[in-house]
Amino acid sequence: MSHLLVTGGAGFIGSNFVHHVVGNTDDSVIVLDKLTYAGNAASLAGLPEDRVRLVQGDIADAALVDELFGQVDAVVHYAAESHNDNSLHDPRPFLDTNIVGTYTLLEAARKHDKRFHHISTDEVYGDLELDDPARFTESTPYNPSSPYSSTKAGSDLLVRAWVRSFGVKATISNCSNNYGPYQHVEKFIPRQITNVLRGIRPKLYGKGENVRDWIHADDHSSAVLTILDKGVIGETYLIGADGEKDNKTVVELILALTGNPTDAYDHVTDRPGHDLRYAIDSTKLRTELGWTPRYQDFEAGLKATIDWYRDNEDWWAPAKDGVEAFYASKGQ
Ligand code: NAD
Ligand code: DAU
Repeated sequence: MSHLLVTGGAGFIGSNFVHHVVGNTDDSVIVLDKLTYAGNAASLAGLPEDRVRLVQGDIADAALVDELFGQVDAVVHYAAESHNDNSLHDPRPFLDTNIVGTYTLLEAARKHDKRFHHISTDEVYGDLELDDPARFTESTPYNPSSPYSSTKAGSDLLVRAWVRSFGVKATISNCSNNYGPYQHVEKFIPRQITNVLRGIRPKLYGKGENVRDWIHADDHSSAVLTILDKGVIGETYLIGADGEKDNKTVVELILALTGNPTDAYDHVTDRPGHDLRYAIDSTKLRTELGWTPRYQDFEAGLKATIDWYRDNEDWWAPAKDGVEAFYASKGQ
């Protein structure tokens, strides 16, 4: 049994990870989360209080981080400013959290000699052409496009340097686009699901031909536990479930699964610098560590996600109007 510190554990993927840990291990968890607009204590509701404790605080608060590192065996670092569109309007919080926050955690990992797993994104590799047979691998050169992805790339490089220079016991994973419950309504899939549930037409950036490689958040969680258990210190693992879909197809599927005409959506202003395609080759994780995803049927996973949003309006409704007003002000 381990005691884990999970940063960003009240966010989308972090809270899915905490649920996964409680359901699949005997571990206990301290969640360190600033509860920004993206964090929600309600995402941890119902979890046993003797196994999950939420501490509201900033990962860049060195004194708090030092205190918490002394109480755990290992740290899984999810906390980040995570939304590309926000990073195009106000990059500063991305530098503060993704760079300075990660630096603060690495210094604590070094001082306390604690196992550290850094959660990152496939966006550090830039994008691929639509017709390129290639996929990202662990040796693809870094080429980030947005303020968000460049700060994530910077945080990855900090982790690598702290491993090499200071012997920090860290691993890194770079995952593709996640979907599932507890994702903020600013993001593509929950935005379109909640639009449809509210009778608003889905909004597709540009032509909708951009491709994302979708993985269920629970599969991301099982991959992270696998890496914590069996990963080799200093190594990077790409996480993906062969889920490439273009955005237009995803919107049409959401409309079909909710009983709407599949052309009942709007094209809106494209994202500046919009990455065209992401695609993950997760051979290393599968062959070296023996991981396999469980959610192979995207349509079934999407249907379950639609059902979750239909059943949990109390969770998402408070953020919905503000998000839509913000997008409307940008023509999106
Ligand atoms: P999210 O925005 O839903 O959650 C981020 C969480 O971090 C929130 O709970 C927020 O309150 C917290 N946080 C932000 N700044 C903080 C700070 N300074 N101190 C403490 N807590 C802070 O993000 P997400 O989509 O769950 O992403 C989690 C991680 O996974 C990120 O590192 C992201 O880069 C990575 N990732 C996300 C995806 C995806 O598809 N969403 C894919 C690959 C990797
Ligand atoms: O690839 C991993 C990344 O996936 C993570 O690192 C990020 O944290 C996560 O937010 C996600 O980034 P994307 O930019 O790919 O996700 P987003 O949900 O913002 O958009 C997905 C695609 O949908 C993208 O091509 C933009 C498009 N889009 C998005 C919104 C919000 C639309 O067409 N309409 C929309 O309303």
